[in-house]
Amino acid sequence: MTISYSILFFLVVGIFLFCYFIATRVWIKVDEKNKESENQPKNRRDFLYISSVSIGGLGVASFMWPFIKSMNPAEDTLALGSTEVDLSEISVGQSITVKWRGKPVFIKRRTEEEILEAQNVDLGSLRDPIADKDRVQNPEWLVLEGVCTHLGCVPLGQKMSDTKGEFKGWFCPCHGSHYDTSGRIRKGPAPENLAIPPYRFLSDTVIKIG
Ligand code: FES
Repeated sequence: MTISYSILFFLVVGIFLFCYFIATRVWIKVDEKNKESENQPKNRRDFLYISSVSIGGLGVASFMWPFIKSMNPAEDTLALGSTEVDLSEISVGQSITVKWRGKPVFIKRRTEEEILEAQNVDLGSLRDPIADKDRVQNPEWLVLEGVCTHLGCVPLGQKMSDTKGEFKGWFCPCHGSHYDTSGRIRKGPAPENLAIPPYRFLSDTVIKIG
């Protein structure tokens, strides 16, 4: 259930409860009046009051429906929530940057050396201790959100000519955070590792992010 459908559900329930409350109040008032004047055709009046309130409630609900429906994301907006990336053109050691939900995502095809460096780290020495195997689905491919966890700069390290910091991964020049070849914070003010976005392999050479 999307958020807007949840809102719709609660709104409809709210309108129903509101109408029920009003109808109950009206019923009680009419009942009191009927008791005062026994000559009134009370059943008919009760029916008219209740019907008016119910129809009013339905009218409000149907008036609101187009507005609520417009809150659902359009198909093209939903599509932007995920990105498919063809990895076949990325050579060993190369990185590319793609956009996902407005954020840069780094996709790195790691060399054997980079993989071994990422794996042979004493987890006790890490600020945010997560093993490399828990950050990748295939050791050759590292997928990271390219957003420094300190204050959100985009770290350097995507281009071959970029400085990659002391741990040969990425370096954030804003305040000097160094990330290793698994995207883990190793030095500097950033509190956490670079985040891993949700993704899955559709085939050996295509991933879907989001
Ligand atoms: S934003 Fe990256 S180190 Fe401060």
